[in-house]
Amino acid sequence: MKNIIITIDGPAGSGKGEIAKYLSNKWSLRHLDSGIIYRRIAHKLLKNGVSFDDKPNILRILKKEKNLSFRKNKILRKEKISVWASRIAIHKYVRDYVNKFQREFVYKNLRNTGFVIDGRDIGSVVFKEADLKLYIEVNEVNRAKRRYKQLIDAGEKSIYPKILEEIKLRDIKDKCRKNSPLIVPNGAVKIDNNGELKKALSKINRLVTKLS
Ligand code: C5P
Repeated sequence: MKNIIITIDGPAGSGKGEIAKYLSNKWSLRHLDSGIIYRRIAHKLLKNGVSFDDKPNILRILKKEKNLSFRKNKILRKEKISVWASRIAIHKYVRDYVNKFQREFVYKNLRNTGFVIDGRDIGSVVFKEADLKLYIEVNEVNRAKRRYKQLIDAGEKSIYPKILEEIKLRDIKDKCRKNSPLIVPNGAVKIDNNGELKKALSKINRLVTKLS
């Protein structure tokens, strides 16, 4: 599918990434995971010993970075990176940088491919003009259980109550931040992903069919 933008927003651990990957394969769309960009920046700051609120040094690092990759990397999924990514994501100057980067990337390539992009502000701020906006809903206990399993499967040590606590904290950070808080975007279709993924996917496929 060419020339199509589908956005997927939702809280941490709601399955946005899995849904985006599925749609990418099913409908031949390019998948962009916007969280990867925040994670890459967080990783760079940690590597360079720059604090998450050291504006001059963060800006210096961002200025040097012309081509951040959307490629996935196991290191970027580490819990420490998750926490730092949500810490830097509160800054307007970081969000402006990431949003501009994403828009330029998508509009440079939209003639050759369509996109499915997932994140926390994709339909509400970054691509308000998207052809289809989805908002994925899953309660925090189900999300914490899934996240715990992901970490264990990835070979990380993990304690379930700690994961639940971190999910709650990240929700507060994402929903209460001043800049681009996580909200249901205007015109978005809410998708309940508490139950069987198959059910959520068939609802989404019906919506995508209407676009083509
Ligand atoms: O989606 P993921 O968990 O990889 O994102 C890491 C962090 O980056 C999130 O907790 C969130 O704070 C931030 N983020 C964001 N806006 C996006 C994508 C991610 O604020 N569009």
